[in-house]
Amino acid sequence: MRHLLDVTDFSVEELYELIRTAEDIAQNKEKYCQSCKGKKLATLFFEPSTRTRLSFEAAMLELGGSVLGFSEASSSSATKGESIRDTVKVVSNYVDIIAMRHPIEGAAFAAVKAADVPVINAGDGGHCHPTQTLADLLTIHRECGSLTGLTIGLCGDLKYGRTVHSLINAMSRYAGNKFVLISPSELALPSYMKDFMKAERLEYVETTDMDRYMSQLDVLYMTRVQKERFDDEKEYMRVKDCYILDNKKLAGAKKSLRILHPLPRVNEIACEVDSDPRAAYFRQTLNGKLMRMALILKLLREKDMPYNARKSEVHKDLNCPNPKCVTKTERELEKEFIFSDGEYRCAYCDCYVKNR
Ligand code: CP
Repeated sequence: MRHLLDVTDFSVEELYELIRTAEDIAQNKEKYCQSCKGKKLATLFFEPSTRTRLSFEAAMLELGGSVLGFSEASSSSATKGESIRDTVKVVSNYVDIIAMRHPIEGAAFAAVKAADVPVINAGDGGHCHPTQTLADLLTIHRECGSLTGLTIGLCGDLKYGRTVHSLINAMSRYAGNKFVLISPSELALPSYMKDFMKAERLEYVETTDMDRYMSQLDVLYMTRVQKERFDDEKEYMRVKDCYILDNKKLAGAKKSLRILHPLPRVNEIACEVDSDPRAAYFRQTLNGKLMRMALILKLLREKDMPYNARKSEVHKDLNCPNPKCVTKTERELEKEFIFSDGEYRCAYCDCYVKNR
């Protein structure tokens, strides 16, 4: 059946279809209020969330369905050592669709392998966050009028920022987009993502200077430095306040610039920016709910279609080099890899297996 592990699971046409559905839902709320009557969504959140969990729950309720689940690992049997595999297998007996967030990279693909209902990746460690990207796509489409020909600045934590990785994947599929990667060197985009950008021949520059490209940007995607992903607190303290967007910094920016942020914000955008019409981050949260409604409808409608987005194969002799990969923690998970452009990469966390 169909699942959503990353935005690349959907074709460009399917993403436009989701945008069209979300726009229709926004205009005709009543038309959809019984669409999921009798259907249940499980929200399995092994990691904290405000927007993703609550917007999924609001989405299902507004579609006439119901929701059940947990909001922290400590209230689930994960604390007793239950695997992702067993949890998902069991929950598949209770619901029609699952949205899962987990701190371990590649956890979503591990869930897909066990599930008997569609699984939506609501964030798996520093890997991907595709439904945030759906919110981002609708926001860019609504605010900029197009998904093509844009100069997109991504600022802050590009290393651990899973929303950044998913957004680059998504925007790389639309013609003429350029990327400005703004981060301290410690939080630069991971090499597997840069390998991907080079392979796709994407135009990008890396800089530590937030001001340098400000006047060229159509979209500025700010991100939080994610304390919870650091192994070393001293390193976090060194970089945590590296970029703070305020009115002064915006002085030279285009009038048509749109500022996005997946939220939560800590202090990387000064509150004075909130009243600037270019600040789109609170509108983005509403768009997230609309796209999650469109997504639930699509996956339930297409649940009998085969899932073949990850063309992976089992390789017992290969190991994923990522220490945060789910294959390091989940019992009895077959090691699966995707072969493309002469390289193997882990089917769970997308880490390239170099030096094998
Ligand atoms: N953007 C986002 O994922 O927010 P939450 O962590 O609150 O769900």
